[in-house]
This record gives sequence, C-alpha cells and structure tokens, in this order.
Amino acid sequence: MTEAERRRTVRVFDTTLRDGEQAPGASLGQAAKVRAAHAIADLGVDVLEAGFPAASAGEAEAVARIAREVRGPTIAALARAGQADVETAARSIGGAGRSRIHVFIATSDIHLEKKLHMTRSECLARTASAVERATAMADEIEFSAEDATRSDVAFLVSVYQAAVASGATTVNIPDTVGYAQPQEFAALVHAIRTALPDTRVKISVHCHNDLGLAVANTLAAVGAGADEVHVTVNGLGERGGNASLEETVMALRCRADWYRVDVGVRQERLVVASRIVSELTGIPVQPNKAIVGANAFAHASGIHQDGVLKDPRTYEIMSPQSVGWEARRIVVSKLSGRRGLAARLAELGVPLDGEALDRAYALAMRRGDDVHELDEHDLIAIAAHARRPIESSVDSSTPVPAAGD
Ligand code: KIV
Ligand code: ZN
Repeated sequence: MTEAERRRTVRVFDTTLRDGEQAPGASLGQAAKVRAAHAIADLGVDVLEAGFPAASAGEAEAVARIAREVRGPTIAALARAGQADVETAARSIGGAGRSRIHVFIATSDIHLEKKLHMTRSECLARTASAVERATAMADEIEFSAEDATRSDVAFLVSVYQAAVASGATTVNIPDTVGYAQPQEFAALVHAIRTALPDTRVKISVHCHNDLGLAVANTLAAVGAGADEVHVTVNGLGERGGNASLEETVMALRCRADWYRVDVGVRQERLVVASRIVSELTGIPVQPNKAIVGANAFAHASGIHQDGVLKDPRTYEIMSPQSVGWEARRIVVSKLSGRRGLAARLAELGVPLDGEALDRAYALAMRRGDDVHELDEHDLIAIAAHARRPIESSVDSSTPVPAAGD
C-alpha cells in the first residue's frame, strides 16, 4: 500500500451529554443521561464526554454513574483550568475503564479581559498548572483553548505549547462562537499542527454552528490534518448547536475518496441514537435534517421517484438502511408520478396497473390538490375506487374518495 493510499483514523469525541446538554431545554436527569450514554457508546464513538461535574452535585453523580457503567469509549469530563474543577472531574470519572479530563480556558483577548479579568501571562500559568494537576489524575488530558478562532495565533500557540509541556496529549481548537470560515479554519489547524510537530500530540476540533458552518469547518479541519472531531447527536449544543455527529461521520464515510480517513462509528445505529436523544431531550429532529430527519430518504417528485425506483443511486448517495432506516419513502402528493404511485400501492398490498392505475393516478392527483401528502387511508380508498371502473370512471364530476369512503 502506498503512502497516498494509507488512511489515517480520525477519533470521534461525542459531546452530546456536555455541550449538547447546553442546548436550551435539553438538560437531562441522571437516568436519562445514563440511557443516552449507553446509546452513544453503542455507536462506537472513541470518547464520550459525560458532562461538566463542577456544574452541580447531580451532574457529578451522573458523570460518575456513566463512568462506572458505560464501557467502550474513553469517558471524559470537562473542567475549567483550576484545581477544584480538575479534582471534581477526576473524582467523577475515577470508575471509568479509561478516563480523560478535558481542561479548558479562554484565550481570546475579549474573553480574557471582559470575562476572566486575566492577563495573557496569567492564562498561560493557569493552563500549565491545571493541566499538570490533571495529568496525575486521569489516563489522558485534552486541553481546549476556548474561543481559539478569535485568539491571537502566536499567543494561542504558546498556550498549546504550555499545555503539551504540562502533559496534554490532545489539544483542541474550538470555534466557540461559530465564527470561522472553512478555509480559514483549515489554515489555523495547519498552523497549530506545524507549531506542534510531535504527531503523538493529537489535534482536535470543536465547531459551533452560529453561521451554519459547524460541519463544514469540522470537515475542513480533517482535510487539514485534524485527528479528532467533537460532535453531537442531532447537532445539539449551545445556541445554534455543534457539528452533528451523523453528518460529520457520513460525510467522512461517503467521501472517503476525498478525505482518506477512517472513523469507527457504527453508522447503522445513527437513526436509533438520534431517536433516543430526541426522545430523552424532548427536542425534535427537523424533518429535512440530513441522515436522520424524516425526509432524508423521502422522494416526492415524479422525476425523482422514477429515478430511485429504477436505480436508487440516481438520487441517494447512501442507502437508508446503511444508516438505520428500514426503507426509503415514496411520498404520494400532487407532484408524484404514475410509477411512484404504483410502487406505493404495491407496498400497501393493493397493486394496480393498466387502466386501473390510470384511474387511481387521476384520483390521486385531485386528492393531492387538497392535501400535502396522501396517507395510507387515502391511497387504499383510491385503489378500491379505481378497481371499480364503471363507478369510478374519472371525469371532473367524480368525487375524490376520502379516507373511510
Ligand atoms: O465551545 C467551546 O469552546 C467549548 C469548550 C469548553 C471546548 O465548549
Ligand atoms: Zn462548545
């Protein structure tokens, strides 16, 4: 195998139960959090960030339960760069098979001056002492420079260097406010990689979606050499959310020819994980959400229906089953074609062809003027009428059978 053919592995760091829970309304009780953790672990993620133990006693206990009960991924806990947070995080993940403390501090001038009231040199010192303390208390340390994308790059590099010298094995570049543009973010990842040439130190990225670019920025970072991606199920997260796990993973998989990386996620569990997280948080998934939204594999127009029925690859870049759906959906509406209607009727066990299908199609088009989508009852009623040619010869005076007729 040539160097060009060899693929590197990108680690998937799931932060649904930390940053995802920061989505307004998404916070979970202990039992729900543990259930979600099992579903996320079943996806095969490499690292599962279970929470921010310093936030509350309940959160610390939930993180501790996840650390004791969930096996597979490394269990991470978030800590601000201070002794107390680091110790609380370390206690919470003590029962994990493999533990990671995720230490963070802001590095942009606006955060240092206005939020932390700290000088750059105080920030450097806090980074070094917190990471050093954490290194003695967990299997691995990840260090994040909050608001990295609005930080002075030379200072940012010096903070990462201090973190690495103190024991961090992964350094994370957060686009905390979703400000970066893909090429710009890729250039930053490249600059940090160049400044930290020891490839045993892994580069991680954490992208927010304020401009709808979280996944694009994450992928650009992978293209620039990032070793780890922070993602959340359904893209949940603070404000506009984080990079969505399902979109990031499927982009890397579908376009493996482009990215040339492997990820360990079990993609056939994506839909079920999405459902579980949505039910537990009470946050619905928008229908047009890629991969896991109800319309992700629904075909409505006659031209598209004809195409996918002839060969699914005409309008699908992955199969619905490959990400956990039972089947694609042919939606019958006023936009459908005869072929789509025939397929749907066959699925419902009322196959029609020839003139009966022509009559059913005419009735379906008229019903389609009144409803967004013809449901099963509409279609079965239409099939029954279409099978009775004399009664249902279709002209403008023929009533469209409604469900229940
Ligand atoms: O958005 C952010 O900067 C964070 C850090 C704690 C990594 O969530
Ligand atoms: Zn974040």
